[in-house]
Amino acid sequence: MSKIFVDACFRKETPYTPVWMMRQAGRYLPEYMEVRAKAGNFLNLCHNPEFAAEVTIQPLDIVGVDAAILFSDILVVPNEMGMKLDFLKGEGPVFDKPIKTEEDLDALIGGEEAANKLTYVYETIKILKQRLPQDKALIGFTGAPWTLATYMIEGQGTKTYNLCKKMMYSNPEFLHKILRRVTDVVKFYMEKQIEAGVDVVQIFDSWAAAIEPSKYDEFSWKYMVEIAEYLKEKYPHIPIIMFPKGIASFIERGLVYGNFDVFGVDWGTPMALAKEKLGEKYVLQGNMEPCRLYSKEATTMCVEAIQNIMGGSGHIFNLGHGILPDVPVENAIHFVKECQRVSKKA
Ligand code: CP3
Repeated sequence: MSKIFVDACFRKETPYTPVWMMRQAGRYLPEYMEVRAKAGNFLNLCHNPEFAAEVTIQPLDIVGVDAAILFSDILVVPNEMGMKLDFLKGEGPVFDKPIKTEEDLDALIGGEEAANKLTYVYETIKILKQRLPQDKALIGFTGAPWTLATYMIEGQGTKTYNLCKKMMYSNPEFLHKILRRVTDVVKFYMEKQIEAGVDVVQIFDSWAAAIEPSKYDEFSWKYMVEIAEYLKEKYPHIPIIMFPKGIASFIERGLVYGNFDVFGVDWGTPMALAKEKLGEKYVLQGNMEPCRLYSKEATTMCVEAIQNIMGGSGHIFNLGHGILPDVPVENAIHFVKECQRVSKKA
């Protein structure tokens, strides 16, 4: 049975434009909070394939999206490379020993050995392949090397990225060494997700906007493209989605390149601009401003506007970044229904 989401990634005709939401499995769902409480905490949830599979499926049943995204976190990768990770209440992720020196980097596990430690992720995928309806796609994912490196260097989320940027301008060779190590793990990690059964993969470069445009290719995009091209060569039937957040000027100047299928448009990039610059080469995903979900009217207006621009082809509906924890579930359901309604073909 063909999957509407996979078909749309390859620009095939579909009965309507499929829709999913970044961070669709999460705290806005009371059912998620219940499973997280059973697991004890967020990391335990990621480590338990039975629970992780359960929360992966929740948004399909509750919200009606057309694809499931594997429940995990981008930070399990540096965690399994040997960096101790905690999620602190109200503060988010924290690594106890961020990378400062060559010795710190050398101490980390690399390549296939690190990817082999993520067994709980592959186990979750195998469970999901059994449980997901045949017509729904499963999206695997990774953080982009740059976005992962920001946490590995800063030790936590940051507003200024000063440690990463100090390295970028005063010791770029070392930053490239870190990015190389992460890229090599991520290639194996994505490959193993595909072997375990994901139908599509997405690379999240959530902190792309921290890099000045003239340096973006050097420190992030080229590594993402390397991963995509490696996977495309081996698995041409698996669509690849690139999501770099906050790089409208890079798009505008025609600097996006590479062998992948879908470009995820963030909410700060006008869809019309993305279509003009990228729409011929890539299917576009996105891009409603997630805070529109607080208002059903604002949601409907935006869904209609996006539909008018995209015209129901070469498009996948999504938010322009992740859904926030205090969005009413009924508004998320409304968004999904509206996307399916406005794009339905007669
Ligand atoms: O539904 C899905 O999208 C699948 C699951 C998923 C999570 N994180 C679960 C999660 C995915 C795809 C991610 C990716 C992720 N993780 C990114 C890239 C995407 C983005 O939003 O830009 C980033 C930057 C992270 C790192 C991360 N994880 C942070 C900064 C935080 C704390 C902030 C927050 O939202 O609480 C997390 C925790 C996290 N990852 C939660 C979830 C559901 C919340 C944990 C909880 O309290 O239950």
